[in-house]
Amino acid sequence: MASQGVRTHTCGELRRSHVGQSVALSGWVNSCREMGGALVFVDLRDKYGITQVAFDDSVQAGLRERARGLKGESTIHVRGVVRPRPEGQANKERATGEVEVLAHELEVLGPAKTPPFDLANAESVSDELRLQYRYIDLRRERLQKNLTMRHDVLLALRNRLSSLGFTEVETPILTKATPEGARDYLVPSRVHKGSFYALPQSPQIFKQILMVAGVDKYFQICRCFRDEDLRADRQPEFTQLDVEMSFVEQEHVLAMISAAVAHAVDAVRPGRAPSLPMRSMTWTDAMEKYGSDKPDLRFAVRLADVTEAVRASGFGVFANTAKAGGRVRVLAAPGGGAFSRKEITELEELAKLHGAKGLAWFKASAGALEGGSAKFLAPAEQQALRQATGAQDGDLLLAVADTFDVSAKALGAVRLAVGRKCKLIDPHALEFTWVVDFPLFERDAETGELTPAHHPFCKPKEAYPGQLEQDPAGTLAHSYDLVLNGIELGSGSVRIHDSELQHRVFQRIGLPEKEIRDRFGFVLDCFQFGAPPHAGFAVGLDRLVMILAGEDSIREVIAFPKTATAADLMTGAPTVVPEKQLAEAGVMLLPAVAASGGAA
Ligand code: AMO
Repeated sequence: MASQGVRTHTCGELRRSHVGQSVALSGWVNSCREMGGALVFVDLRDKYGITQVAFDDSVQAGLRERARGLKGESTIHVRGVVRPRPEGQANKERATGEVEVLAHELEVLGPAKTPPFDLANAESVSDELRLQYRYIDLRRERLQKNLTMRHDVLLALRNRLSSLGFTEVETPILTKATPEGARDYLVPSRVHKGSFYALPQSPQIFKQILMVAGVDKYFQICRCFRDEDLRADRQPEFTQLDVEMSFVEQEHVLAMISAAVAHAVDAVRPGRAPSLPMRSMTWTDAMEKYGSDKPDLRFAVRLADVTEAVRASGFGVFANTAKAGGRVRVLAAPGGGAFSRKEITELEELAKLHGAKGLAWFKASAGALEGGSAKFLAPAEQQALRQATGAQDGDLLLAVADTFDVSAKALGAVRLAVGRKCKLIDPHALEFTWVVDFPLFERDAETGELTPAHHPFCKPKEAYPGQLEQDPAGTLAHSYDLVLNGIELGSGSVRIHDSELQHRVFQRIGLPEKEIRDRFGFVLDCFQFGAPPHAGFAVGLDRLVMILAGEDSIREVIAFPKTATAADLMTGAPTVVPEKQLAEAGVMLLPAVAASGGAA
């Protein structure tokens, strides 16, 4: 009868000190090779490493032959004796490289068919194939390390919060729509036909209610669900470290989260934790200097505002923008004077993609500016641009003249491209910053309507009573983001705990009275029963681990991620369901959907 493969050691454990010991190993056949017909070597692999096993007929007749027939990726169990590798044959790259196991017994535990791809070449096969056979892909050392790192980060955070007196509380998954700005995943109710649960986009409302319930310091490592356009740092389900605290100010949350994140970084990248307190800048500063609310501080290039210097310029694009109340912003790409026309055109296309009408350029040369639009600028204006950017001869100046928003976003995108192009970014750097004082609202790009910049529970920072009604767009919020290497790692705010103020914010975002009652009546009610002032935060854990693991996509740090179209290629989810099941849930497909095969 096949054994369970119980082992004495892992495949990463044996050293010279084990020589002479009888051992039992189990693992996957990483590779199998023959040495001059007398010996077969199998590299046996598990999560912990690789050990070479030698099969030789002198121990047991037929053993070598059986080893030769082993299929890659099969699981096997081997009993044998540890021996040193012959002089000069040690493998210095491998922790177990000084020894091998001379096999006495071989048992195949789980034979493998020919794998759909070779683990050694997994990086070169399509993502689709890797996701379909995720259990094979996950055997790779890199992904195993990522999973372990994820565990270590989560454990460090959990331990830290727990030691600070936070209580982890689970909140419902089957719940009501939460306003985080994405579409909801809906679940039909069988019992209440025609009604739907929504999966939480975050536990935002529940954690605030837990404060009203007296929990005082809450955290949760929780799954959130958002039906939104996916990209490298977005999955339809992802994991947050969700936190909420009572009777605190913004500074307390920032200090606590900074310390917890630094502790987690130190757990997996010793010595690389950011120094505390972390750097902090206002949203306005971030937009002015970096053209982004998530500035990448791994390189020093900054945007400069030269609106005043070019207000009377003969360069119409600049002067007209300044007169119209817009902004003229410029940056210097170090050594960019060597960029080809094609490269400059590519940067211009990028600026246009972000709404700019164009990208003016000038080469810093001989103490002045040349080329591009330089001929339109007076000598004093040329000097002003050089001074504002600190440009040196050989640099390329790039400028966008447009509204505050467009000039920031377009030149911010160009800044990132310049950072990559000029190789200014240290891929190993970890540059954290807080961004504080966000606007309370932003304008929807399509409808022009006010929407919450974060969510509608952030406390307004009214500069004067009634600013919310009189100048909503100019009202700031007690809200803050944590940014790492130009990626938004998390966000939070001081919350509204006053029913009346909360009601005013709902009104400002144009929610009709009935909708306020239907969607948020229970929150407004709750705040009328002794709500403590409270504040909180949520860290995107997939993103944190992605950056710490040096990966470019959160897929690489999630065991079973979904594709860009939110499909799970391994299980085949989402799947059509039998009509009977739909009927039980009181759901009928639209005729067009049913006709295209949307029901089984
Ligand atoms: P927010 O919506 O900013 O805030 O989310 C917090 C953090 O979660 C991560 N994140 C994601 N990660 C992967 N895939 C996604 N689709 C995705 N969406 C968000 C990001 C983000 O910064 N309730 C508030 C927090 C609060 O106010 O306490 C919230 O969820 O890293």
